[in-house]
Amino acid sequence: CDTVSIAIDGPAAAGKSTVARKVAHALTYIYVDTGAMYRALTLKTIKEGADLSSEEEVLEVLMKCDIQFEQTDEGQLVFINGEEITKEIRTDEVTRNVSAVSSYPEVRIEMVNRQQKMIAGQNVVMDGRDIGTKVIPEADLKIFMVASVEERARRRHEENTRSGYESDLEVLMEEIKRRDDIDSTRTASPLVKAKDAVEVDTTSLSIDNVVEQILDLVNERV
Ligand code: C5P
Repeated sequence: CDTVSIAIDGPAAAGKSTVARKVAHALTYIYVDTGAMYRALTLKTIKEGADLSSEEEVLEVLMKCDIQFEQTDEGQLVFINGEEITKEIRTDEVTRNVSAVSSYPEVRIEMVNRQQKMIAGQNVVMDGRDIGTKVIPEADLKIFMVASVEERARRRHEENTRSGYESDLEVLMEEIKRRDDIDSTRTASPLVKAKDAVEVDTTSLSIDNVVEQILDLVNERV
C-alpha cells in the first residue's frame, strides 16, 4: 500500500503529542492522539457513574460511545457522542483513572479496531503506547520517545503553571511514575519499545530538535 504511517510511542509526558502534532503538520498527514480516546472513555465512565474497576461496565460504556476528532487551527478537538470534551479529558480525575481503564483487554481490542479503521488509507502520525507494537505493526517509521521522569514532571509542571492550573512538582512526578508502572506492567499490550523502533531521548532536547530528528528519519527511511 502507498500510504505512510509514523508510530510514536513512549511513557507519560515525554512530549509525544506535541511532537507528533508538529511532525504531522510538517508532512500534512493526519494526527491521531490515541491517549485522548482512552481519556474520553474514562471521562464518560465517570460521568455515567459506571464502575471504573469493572471491565464489563467500562466496555458497556465504550460500546455506546462514538469518539471523534476534529482538526482545527487551534488544535485538535475531541468529541464523545457529539459533545466536545477536549479540556475535560485532561483533568486530574481522568488522568488518575485512565491507566486502569486502558488496562482492560476487551477495551483495548475495541479501541485498536477503531484506531485501525480511523486511519485506513491515510497518511498518519499516531501516538500512544502500543502503536508500533499493536495498532500499526507495519508502520514505516517507529519512534520510542523517552525522557527522565524528573524532566517529564518539570515540563508538565511548567505547562500547568503557564496555563494557570495549580501544580505540584512532587505530586506530578509520583503520578507519572505510577502511570508508567501500570502501563508497562499490564498484561494486555503493555508499553514496550517495538524491536524496530528508534529510541529518541528528549531529556536535553527542545521540541523543535526532536521534530527535526524525526523529519530527518522520515527523509532517510520513508
Ligand atoms: O497519551 P496520554 O498520556 O494522554 O495517555 C493516557 C493514558 O492512556 C496512558 O497513561 C495509558 O494508560 C493509556 N493509553 C494506552 N494506549 C495508548 C494510548 C494511551 O493504554 N495507545
